[in-house]
Amino acid sequence: MEKMSFNFHMPTKVVFEEGAAESLVKHVKGTSLLMMCDPFFYKNGSAQKVAEATHIEKVVFFSEIEPNPSCQTVDRAAEIARSNHVDVVIGLGGGSAMDASKMAACLINNEGSIFDYYSTGDKVLKPRDAQLICIPTTAGTGSEVTNIGVYTNKETGIKMPFASEYFWPDIALIDPELTHTMPSHITASTGMDAFTHAIEAYWSVNSNPISDALSISVIKTILENIETACKEPTHSAARKNMAFASVAAGISFSQTKTTGIHAVSFPLTTDFGASHGLACSITLPAFIKLAYNGRKDKMDALFAMLGYDCVDAFINRVEAIMEAINLPTRLSALNIKESDLKKIVEVSMKAPLIHFTPVKVDEDILYDLLKSIL
Ligand SMILES: [Fe+2]
Repeated sequence: MEKMSFNFHMPTKVVFEEGAAESLVKHVKGTSLLMMCDPFFYKNGSAQKVAEATHIEKVVFFSEIEPNPSCQTVDRAAEIARSNHVDVVIGLGGGSAMDASKMAACLINNEGSIFDYYSTGDKVLKPRDAQLICIPTTAGTGSEVTNIGVYTNKETGIKMPFASEYFWPDIALIDPELTHTMPSHITASTGMDAFTHAIEAYWSVNSNPISDALSISVIKTILENIETACKEPTHSAARKNMAFASVAAGISFSQTKTTGIHAVSFPLTTDFGASHGLACSITLPAFIKLAYNGRKDKMDALFAMLGYDCVDAFINRVEAIMEAINLPTRLSALNIKESDLKKIVEVSMKAPLIHFTPVKVDEDILYDLLKSIL
């Protein structure tokens, strides 16, 4: 019999409750708060409401976070946090706000800039002193339960993930009510981002029995709920189920990392303006077909559990859902031409994640995959 051996480490406390954001005072430990959020949540007053719920009097807001947060933005937030002696950082928003909050919180007591630690930087982060609380307002990125942040160097345009044991938030506070204002197209793209987290974790060469159990549950939940969540934004059951799927998928891929889909998503966001979820979902059906070859037994078991008799039946269902929620499955939707593929392949192959795909992916294989969905 094959031996079973794995590690599972997820130190973040998960608080999942409708209305949870209103009872933040129970969770915060500090006297000076930096509230980092998407501009939308500052303008509509949500960030202020969440900050009030902490009962902390000294609050600084930082709402300049752009999609695909830049290293330069993170450095600015850290500087503000240092000068205000911040000891609690809240990241409220989608993946961008939460990712930015992870690095900014660490930089408060780590001297210098993000560039000293990230990419080719040679300094090593010391343990973070400030409390870090991540509160997602979308259901997809799972950043609230991972130790990964993705940052873009504005000067070079290069987007790379960075992982640190000090990036695990102390608390992931999931309040499905916060997702009710999310527009349909963001519900669709972020929801399918969570789907790719779950399925990539499932087929990843790093998968383990706990991540598998989470992934199976997520895949089923998203297939059953994403259309309703997109079409009926205040449908509480669908929103609650999608919020659960997002956090469970995040916990799953926090253990396994993602694979080829996410590796290819990086150039699609930086060079072709796709949102992260769109950049992931657009290659999803093609990657299911490819990864299936490396995981036939395991994927067949998944399809059987979900009621599909073969890989094509599953792919057809995924494509039908994507069509129903207006997500493209052809690269032409991003104005990508055959002449762009070489560069996309080159950049994607540099991401170490590509090698966690359960089949060998080389430049030719990836080129052919992308060409098949032009
Ligand atoms: Fe993702």
